[in-house]
Parts: sequence; structure tokens; C-alpha cells
Amino acid sequence: MRQKIVAGNWKMNKTLQEGVELAKGVNDILSKNAPKCTVILGTPFIHLTEVVKTVDSKLIKVSAENCADKESGAYTGEVSAAMVKSTGAEYVILGHSERRGYYGETYEILKEKVKLALANGLKVIFCIGESLEEREANKQNAVVKAELEGSVFNLTADEFSKIVIAYEPIWAIGTGKTATSDQAEEIHAYIRSVIADKYGKQVAENTSILYGGSCKASNAKELFAKPDIDGGLIGGASLKPADFYGIIEAYN
Ligand code: PGA
Repeated sequence: MRQKIVAGNWKMNKTLQEGVELAKGVNDILSKNAPKCTVILGTPFIHLTEVVKTVDSKLIKVSAENCADKESGAYTGEVSAAMVKSTGAEYVILGHSERRGYYGETYEILKEKVKLALANGLKVIFCIGESLEEREANKQNAVVKAELEGSVFNLTADEFSKIVIAYEPIWAIGTGKTATSDQAEEIHAYIRSVIADKYGKQVAENTSILYGGSCKASNAKELFAKPDIDGGLIGGASLKPADFYGIIEAYN
């Protein structure tokens, strides 16, 4: 069976001290209430080392939110996949719509990032999803297919098995507007069919596809009950231990 995953994406929130407190808070709750899914905390780069030290690795995995598209060298301010890996983090979120939209990350750039992340032993949470305009024009399927083809369908089946997909409709991110569980299931099933066409049914069946976009305790259970939704990528509701646990609890 494929993995069920609840992953937090802190984005650009929390000082180092606040982040350690948050990680500690989540860890405390989970040490008393063992999660029935894989729990991942996605944190800013500077938090990674301390968060890795703070949490019980049997309960919580740690993820970066980005990594460089270059291996090493004169790229001031960048953080490489090897550096992320050296903190003890196991995952990296790539292709988030905020990175694509605000920082101009193209299919080609993301293809390099994914390649370097995998080469350095990181697993990738690869985000895809359409804008409101694209949804209104009924182009959502074409958009997610192109995003997969543009950045991850160059991988071998073995490499692709290290990828978790996160479907995040841009119109639902941070807006309080969630896709309905039926809307989400429809496109998740489509994404799985595209993966099956490329890599075969077995690989597609083993791929975890997370939903992201205003996912919270009150809607997680209904979303996660859908056959092709394997968990969530959580922004706002990952910033308080109780809110985040409310989503993890959907699997209990
Ligand atoms: P949100 O963000 O839960 O705050 O909508 C999700 C994300 O961007 O990963």
C-alpha cells in the first residue's frame, strides 16, 4: 500500500526559536498519540538542523522547502541539495506555486532541482496545480500533465518512486477556499492515470498524491477518505501544533 502522508509547509514563517518550539509541540503530541501516517515538517533552511535534533525521527521526518538548481560553487545565497541532506532532512518540497510564480522557477529549473535532490538522496514532494483562470477555462488537467512532463517524467521508474506528488490548486492556497473532495478526487485520479500511462499501473498505485490548499482539521477527513488522496500538504494549519495534529488525526 502506498504511504499516507501529512506534511507541513511552514513557508517563510517562524524565527529559529519559534520553529523549534513548534516542532517540539508537534513532537510532544505525537509521542503521546502515535500517528497512523507519515508526518513531515517542511521548514526554512536555517531551521532544518535544529528541527532534526528536536524531533523523534521515528515520529517525524523533516523537509526543506526548496534547494538550488546547481550542484555547488559561486551562487551566492543558494542552498544545495547536498547541504540540505547534510542537515539530516530527508525530503525537499519542489515546484511550489509560490516558487514558480514569485521566483520564476520554470519546468527546466525544476527538472534540475529534482535531479540534484534525488542524486543527493533526498525524497521530493513535487507540487503541481492550476490557477483560478486555468480552472475556469477547464484547463486543469492539461496544466498538471504539462508540469509532470516538464520536470519529472524524464526520471526512471526507480527515481520516480522517490517522488511524492502534491496537487495544490493555486486558487485554494491560503485563500480558505478548498477544492471540494469530489473536485480533488477527480483530478487526483487523473494525475494517477497520467503516471500510469508513463510508468505503468504498479508505479502509479504506489505513488502518494497529497492534496494542498486550505486543508484543515475540519475538511481533512473528508478529503483523505477519497481513494486517490493520500494525505495533505499543509500551509497555514501547520503553524500551530494543535491545528496540525487535528489534520494528522484524520487518519486515526
Ligand atoms: P495553505 O497552503 O494550507 O495555507 O493553503 C498550502 C501550501 O501552499 O502548501
